[in-house]
Amino acid sequence: MAKIECPKCGKVIETTGLVTVCPDCGADMRDVMAELARTGTEAHSGTFARDDSMTTHEFIVRTKGLTKIYTMGEIEVPALRDVELDIKRGEYLSIMGPSGSGKSTLFNMVGGLDKPTSGTCFIEEVDMAQLDAFELAWLRCRKIGYIFQTFNLIPVMTAMENVTLPMIFAGMSSDEMLERGAMLLDIVGLGDRLHHKPYELSGGQQQRVAVARSLANAPAIILADEPTGNLDLQTGKEIIDLLKRLNAESATTIISATHDLKMIDVSDRIVHIRDGQIERIDERADIDIEIGTMDGGEE
Ligand SMILES: Nc1ncnc2c1ncn2[C@@H]1O[C@H](COP(=O)(O)OP(=O)(O)OP(=O)(O)O)[C@@H](O)[C@H]1O
Ligand SMILES: [Mg+2]
Repeated sequence: MAKIECPKCGKVIETTGLVTVCPDCGADMRDVMAELARTGTEAHSGTFARDDSMTTHEFIVRTKGLTKIYTMGEIEVPALRDVELDIKRGEYLSIMGPSGSGKSTLFNMVGGLDKPTSGTCFIEEVDMAQLDAFELAWLRCRKIGYIFQTFNLIPVMTAMENVTLPMIFAGMSSDEMLERGAMLLDIVGLGDRLHHKPYELSGGQQQRVAVARSLANAPAIILADEPTGNLDLQTGKEIIDLLKRLNAESATTIISATHDLKMIDVSDRIVHIRDGQIERIDERADIDIEIGTMDGGEE
């Protein structure tokens, strides 16, 4: 829980970090929030990720009746149907399911990148649907790191520029950005590739830049949509080891869509989805995986 003070009436508000208006006098609190975000990042500049635990809720993500129906002309495509999923703080969760089962759609909802047709998604018990544009942008920038299957790096920017871009949005100073950017790229093994552009990097290296970028603002949650889907076996394994290390060392919650058995192996739970619905949830301890016989784990 963070404490912020209204610049107008002096009221002290205890907050999860998502207050834009003073509840007493109605003053605009956005500058105060921006300052909180900035100092919060400074305080964590030496760490690669964290759960800053402004709140101590058991569940970092909860979905209730989450439903997404895409409408294409006359046709309705139900991509998610009534998904109820509670994700514990610090958990490593894998989401498995056939192509078209709704994995990316679920990510987009949890990550606040798209809105559900009905139902809700709570991040640290804050209902995302209730957030205004500023609050949602704050949450996305500060709380969640995104890794995509196709890396989604900005092609004209160097590794360093890609990684530090989210820090600009969080209001970090340039010196800190450069220091943190170099630290993160070093962690992912690219300390000697800071000034390479994506086309000057291999696929695995690009994905490592994307992992470093996801850590830019020390997120509590990393959402990874098939992060090893476009990588060879060895590079995929390196990315998985990296994510597992983050999870173990900084209690970052990892939520990853995957077909990769090596990823399943390091998960706490595996959620199986089919036709937009949760089919079942396995505890890792209860399932047998023979890694030695795997060849990269495409289903
Ligand atoms: N923008 C969209 N407009 C219309 N239909 C969509 C849209 N995005 C996804 N869908 C449909 O929603 C369903 C779920 O898609 P989604 O991308 O979530 O699947 P997925 O599990 O991520 O699949 P994959 O493993 O191939 O990435 C599919 O039937 C897909 O065709
Ligand atoms: Mg997908």
